[in-house]
Amino acid sequence: RTIWVINGPNLNLLGLREPGVYGSQSLASIEEGLLEKAEALGVSVTFYQSNHEGDIIDRIHAALDHADGIVLNPGALTHYSYAVRDAISSVKIPTVEVHLSNIHARETFRHTSVIAPVAVGQIAGFGAVSYELGMMALLRHLESQGQ
Ligand code: DQA
Repeated sequence: RTIWVINGPNLNLLGLREPGVYGSQSLASIEEGLLEKAEALGVSVTFYQSNHEGDIIDRIHAALDHADGIVLNPGALTHYSYAVRDAISSVKIPTVEVHLSNIHARETFRHTSVIAPVAVGQIAGFGAVSYELGMMALLRHLESQGQ
């Protein structure tokens, strides 16, 4: 099994960026932890981050030939990008939406996810653990689908 972990805008600044909200761990360190977990499970995992909406969309398209599932933190694109949402619907690759923060407990504009309706599910509020939970949930989902 191959899982792609895709991160959107500003997530390259994790560790520096509002640590009170997003924690002090860098994205590289979160990815290292996920890689260890994935290796222990015999799963292949590949990481990607971009600050550009179009690049995120291209990466989701590229997953067509390569990934069984996607763990996606779309950053602020979560709240308004119909284009990212349509990319997920187009490739039909099972996608789990993850967020470090509990978006539902924050500003009103963060309460809406235009991605959630096309995702398998959403995990938010557990910091770096959201990614681990997202990966585990995705693997269980793929197993249950016989994929
Ligand atoms: C985020 C939540 C978004 O609202 C925000 O724009 C981000 C990070 C999170 O992981 O908590 O960039 O996706």
